[in-house]
Order: sequence, then structure tokens, then C-alpha cells
Amino acid sequence: MGNTASAHPSKSFFVAMLTRDIDLRDAVLDLVDNCVDGILRTNKDSQPDDADRPYEGFKAELTINPKVFVISDNCGGIPRETAEKYAFRLGRPKGLKDENLPTVGLYGIGMKRAIFKLGRSCSVTTSHGEGVYAVTISPRWMESDTDWDLPLADVPRKDLPKPLRDGTLGTVVSVTNLHAPIAQEFDAKHSLFLTGLANTIATHYAYIMHKGFSVSINGKEIVPKSLGVLVSDRSIPKDQRIEPFIYKTSSNGVEVELTVGLYREIPTDDEVQAEVEGKSTSGSRDTCGWTVICNDRVVLYSDKTGLTGWGLATVPAYHPQFIAISGLVRFRSMDVGKLPVTTTKRGIEASSELYLSVRDVMQEGLKLFTNFTNHWKSRGEERKAMMKQAKAIDPIKAVALLANSPKQWTAVRKGLGGSKYVPSLPKPAPKPETTKSIRFTRPIKEFEAVAEYLFDDKDSDPSEVGNECFERVLKRVKQ
Ligand SMILES: Nc1ncnc2c1ncn2[C@@H]1O[C@H](COP(=O)(O)OP(=O)(O)OP(=O)(O)O)[C@@H](O)[C@H]1O
Ligand SMILES: [Mg+2]
Repeated sequence: MGNTASAHPSKSFFVAMLTRDIDLRDAVLDLVDNCVDGILRTNKDSQPDDADRPYEGFKAELTINPKVFVISDNCGGIPRETAEKYAFRLGRPKGLKDENLPTVGLYGIGMKRAIFKLGRSCSVTTSHGEGVYAVTISPRWMESDTDWDLPLADVPRKDLPKPLRDGTLGTVVSVTNLHAPIAQEFDAKHSLFLTGLANTIATHYAYIMHKGFSVSINGKEIVPKSLGVLVSDRSIPKDQRIEPFIYKTSSNGVEVELTVGLYREIPTDDEVQAEVEGKSTSGSRDTCGWTVICNDRVVLYSDKTGLTGWGLATVPAYHPQFIAISGLVRFRSMDVGKLPVTTTKRGIEASSELYLSVRDVMQEGLKLFTNFTNHWKSRGEERKAMMKQAKAIDPIKAVALLANSPKQWTAVRKGLGGSKYVPSLPKPAPKPETTKSIRFTRPIKEFEAVAEYLFDDKDSDPSEVGNECFERVLKRVKQ
């Protein structure tokens, strides 16, 4: 008889629990996130050539079909010591903190969870510059409750996946023996999964791709969705310029930068109607609203709900007439635990105090542009001329550009402090008056007499009686 009770985890339970709630798409994105974290670690010691495009030259290539899932990157590889001690553990060991980098890896689970979700056999082959080695996961290992170690072995050059054979420093994760439902999803002939995945990558990594990172699926490069905000040329008088509202602050180790403005022309009545009826083909609906970025990853895209301030307090709820408004909020921290993201990193932690304080400012900026839209919605021609002179530019560049107008920046005293740029947006000129109203009062007796005379009815509507008097005189005047 022993004097301990076993509390060892059962691997099958672990694997089932880990993969149950994660969406297949999110599992794949976890692997892409690891590539981007790899770039940050690689760039740590060497400044990128172009500061605006620090991810230039780095890529992730995905090969996905019912037989195999492969993600191959050139993002620096996994150091051998990391692989031996941490990378394959289920969960980040206590006390192990990530480097002082704005990465998103936090829990130490993403890669393993993705592999378990996809299939039963896997190899992770990687080169960090100190030889190439592979860690393999087999169906036998998956099933064993006692074996928690994975074989790690050097790989002869001839057996290496192509990019690593050429000396690239990077990682190739290859999963085979795919679970049947996953293989079905990966069959482009019968499932829309791959199209959806490409769209999600185009939006969620748009910011990183604009900074040089490239991602392809089955040889097809993904084109990032555009991010832009209209800014008028500096030569235009100040009160006629279209510019975004900007807010910047830094609080408790988190940098925040927010821009909201117009990214396209205000829609015509016909377009609004088409949107309301779901008949529009402009695609603008997918771009407007708020996008939230945490450490360069888009965690919320094109949101038009209360989560981002629409319909809260004095801000109107989203309506297609506001389709030209788009906002971008960026949070950045060396400690990913401080960012307002959910544990899957694809959503906002709505109860985060930091986020709620920023949302107050988001509402302020949003309101400026819902008001602007309301003022200009019936002024088609004037509006066209005004908008014509504004160009869509990267919101980050807009911030840099407008930093040169120091007078319009004001300190924010409330909430998280910081400073904001409040544009003085153009106001439509008041319409010239073309009509006048007439009101007057008469004794009832006199009114009834006139009503009887005009309409044979003493109970006629007073405004009709007044109008008829006017019309008769007008006729005489015109003769
Ligand atoms: N493509 C890659 N390039 C470089 N290093 C990688 C790559 N994939 C994984 N790693 C290493 O393996 C470790 C474990 O990855 P995993 O995704 O399981 O956890 P994490 O990224 O630390 O945290 P999270 O669970 O939040 O994603 C990473 O921290 C990183 O050191
Ligand atoms: Mg990860």
C-alpha cells in the first residue's frame, strides 16, 4: 500500500479539453502568431533595414489539403534549449517570462493545441542556426498516458523540408493523419473553410502585412485589407480640411493610439437604401467601424456594436449612413498580460478597465464623425467637392503628419490622460432662405364669415382659409 494518491494528468483528457473549445480557424492563427513572435525575437538583436516595414522579407507559407497541414516560416527558428525545456510543454513553466518584447505568446499552449486540433502525427522541424532538428509527435505518444517526453533529433540535410535545406532559419510544422472532420474542412471542393481563413488572415494580419509580412495559402499570396483614413492636403484652409480625430496616451506600461475618421465618401441616399436592403456590393460594410489592434495583431475587426461605443450614451447606433466612418485603436505593451485581449487573443476583454477608459475617448471621436455625417448628408454636391481634395492614407502616417500641427493638440485631463487632436471639420454653409411662414389671429366671427364666403363651410381649416386668401391676392398681383 502506498502513501500517495496519483494526480497525474491523463493525456487524452488534456488533449480533448484543450481542443474542445478552440475554433479551427483560431488554432491555425495561433501558429501564424508564433511566426510573428519569432520575427520580433529575430529583430531584437538586429534593427530592420526599414523601420516602417520591420516585417519585410518574413513570411509564412501554408499548405493545406485533406492529407496534410504544413506551415513553413523563415522567422528565425526555435532555439534548441527552448525546444528542450519549454516550447513543447503544455503550459508555460512558472517563472519563465518572455523577453522584453511586444509578443503575444503568453500561455505556452498555442502550438500544441493547434497540432492536437488538427491531427495525430506531427513533426516540427526547425533551424535556429545551430543545426537543424525535429521534434515528432506520433499517434502512440498521443495515446500514452505515461509518456510525456517527445523525441528530438537532428535531421540529415537530405531529409529536410526544402526551405530549411537551403539554409533558411525557420520552422516547419507539418501535421498528417488529420482528424476526419478537419480533413473535410480542408477540402476546398466541399468546404469554404480555406476561403474564410484567407479572409481572416487578410483582415487580422492586415497591419503586419502592411509592414512587410507575407502569408500564402497553397501558393496564393494573401492581399491584406486596406487600412486608410482621409486627410486633406495641407494647402487647403484649415476649416475646410477633412482630418481624423486622434488620441495618444501611455498608461501602466501600455501605449495607446487611436484614430477615427472617414475612409471614404459619405454614402448617397441610394447607397444607404441599398445597404439597408442588403443589396449593396461596395464591400464598404466590411471596412467601416472599429478595428482594435493589440501588439500588431487585429483582435477585433470592423466592429459596429456597443463593444466599441456604437449606440452608447449620446453616440447613435450603427446605421449604413455611417458607412464612411472607420476607427483604429492600437494597444502595445512588452507585457501581453496587460493588453485587453481575451485568452484566445481574437477578441476584446470588455471588462478591462483600460479598455473601458479608452472606449470613452473612442465614443468622443466617433460622435464627431456621426455629427459630421448628419450635417452633410443632404448636401451631395458641396460634399463631393469637399471630399475630393482628401486622400486616404495609413492612419499611422496620419498621426505623424498631424503631429506637426501642435496648436490643435490638447492635453486630456480625465481618464488615462494623454493628448488628443480634435479636427475642426468643415461645416455646411446655412441654406439661403427661400420661403417665409405667415401667422396671424382674427376674431372667430370674422374668420367664419370668410370661411363661409370661400368654402361654404364656416368650420374650414384655418390654414386653408389663410392660404386661399393669399392665393387669390397673389393671382391678382400676377395679372
Ligand atoms: N514558428 C515559430 N518560430 C519561432 N519560435 C516558435 C515558433 N513556434 C513556436 N515557437 C516557440 O515555441 C514556444 C511555444 O509556442 P506556443 O504557441 O505553444 O506558446 P506561446 O506562444 O509561448 O504562448 P501562447 O499559448 O499564448 O501562444 C514559443 O514561445 C516559441 O518560443
Ligand atoms: Mg503561441
